[in-house]
Amino acid sequence: MRVAMIGTGYVGLVSGTCFADFGHIVTCIDKDASKIDALNNGQIPIYEPGLQDLVAKNVEENRLFFTTDPAQAIKEADAVFIAVGTPTRRGDGHADLSYVYAAAEEIAGLVDGFTVVVTKSTVPVGTGDEVEAIIQRTRPDADVAVVSNPEFLREGAAINDFKRPDRVVVGTENDQAVEVMQELYRPLYLNETPIIVTKRRTSELIKYAANAFLAVKITFINEIADLCEKVGANVQEVSRGIGLDNRIGSKFLHAGPGYGGSCFPKDTLALSKIAADAGSDLKIVDSVIEVNSDRKKKMAQKVIDFMGGDVQGKTVALLGLAFKPNTDDMREAPSIDIVQKLQEAGALIRAYDPAGMEEASRMMSDVLFCDGPYHAIENADVAVIVTEWDQFRALDLDRVKTLLKAPKIVDLRNIYKADYMSSRGFEYTSVGRSY
Ligand code: UGA
Repeated sequence: MRVAMIGTGYVGLVSGTCFADFGHIVTCIDKDASKIDALNNGQIPIYEPGLQDLVAKNVEENRLFFTTDPAQAIKEADAVFIAVGTPTRRGDGHADLSYVYAAAEEIAGLVDGFTVVVTKSTVPVGTGDEVEAIIQRTRPDADVAVVSNPEFLREGAAINDFKRPDRVVVGTENDQAVEVMQELYRPLYLNETPIIVTKRRTSELIKYAANAFLAVKITFINEIADLCEKVGANVQEVSRGIGLDNRIGSKFLHAGPGYGGSCFPKDTLALSKIAADAGSDLKIVDSVIEVNSDRKKKMAQKVIDFMGGDVQGKTVALLGLAFKPNTDDMREAPSIDIVQKLQEAGALIRAYDPAGMEEASRMMSDVLFCDGPYHAIENADVAVIVTEWDQFRALDLDRVKTLLKAPKIVDLRNIYKADYMSSRGFEYTSVGRSY
């Protein structure tokens, strides 16, 4: 099959590359010429393990192309994917759909023969209807079927998530479009990955409901963690105790400093707006948004409390800045609030992140970015583990103890055990674990 992928952001680049790896001929299109030039020179604009090699392999095998000119690829395509950004619109929390609609208009002018137009971008319910209307308006004779096909890729694990998904969701009532989608996902189809074919609006809602549910799960366990601290319990044991119940499931029950990233914060907000516009309350999602945003600030207070209520003039070393490991993404990262609050309280910040520092340096001021974890903790009054990168799981604790002014660690990701840390001579606190 021939695929045109509009947008070479995270979703477009990963999806386009994986479709090429499935054996399709894929052209990734972006208006940003410098990005396309870089991609044509083998440079990948995002940090995603395994992507660089997979891009190189498929370029080499003549299945993956990058261009700024959409005309030929769209004309020849069996399926055109819209994978452009849907950022939160300034001021009102709605998803900004202007890029999606501009892509629809562009596609309308260029399609030739029956073409499936697929929205991969996360879009509010009803966007597919509008995309269809735009195409019909712009080009009444165009033979297109507009399909919703949301992505469920996690940053840092995106290739695996694409190639071994729990399910594929396809929203359309057009049989010919279903056939094209099944052919596109053929390797998964053969593996018996469930492919859910549903109406377009349902498919659009599935994406938001999935992300919102995961955000609810995380926020729930974070509140239980706070309760654990108050009543002498251990949240990791609670997670295990409830997660083994198949109806609950053990994933996304790790307590921490609150969720961040480009998806959960944006999508929960957008879902709340969709619901409000439809006159249907989503009180749980609204609470989750509020609780999570308070939580990030509370984490700074946790550090301050641990330091006896005062960090004025104290040096705090942050280990990890990105919103999670294996990404350089700093969007909505808890570290942003933590740094800001600690600085307001008079602390001096040193920090190290294996991938996120370049991005972080654009978002934070007066932070000393360090060369490694040991450099970061040198002469600091306390070390705070903010992101659970593997390299922080195996620190040389004797070295850490010598480098810190006093052996104090706040572990916001629960990657060490309290008993062990105290046996190694550390004053240690973590999240939701009284023992
Ligand atoms: C999330 C979803 O997991 C993907 O399925 C979805 O496709 C994607 O959003 C999207 O909409 O594009 P992502 O934002 O890459 O993926 O990251 P996650 O691994 O889901 O983590 C999100 C946040 O939740 C991180 O800040 C992470 O630290 C936090 N988290 C996750 C927890 O605090 N506890 C957990 O148990 C799990």
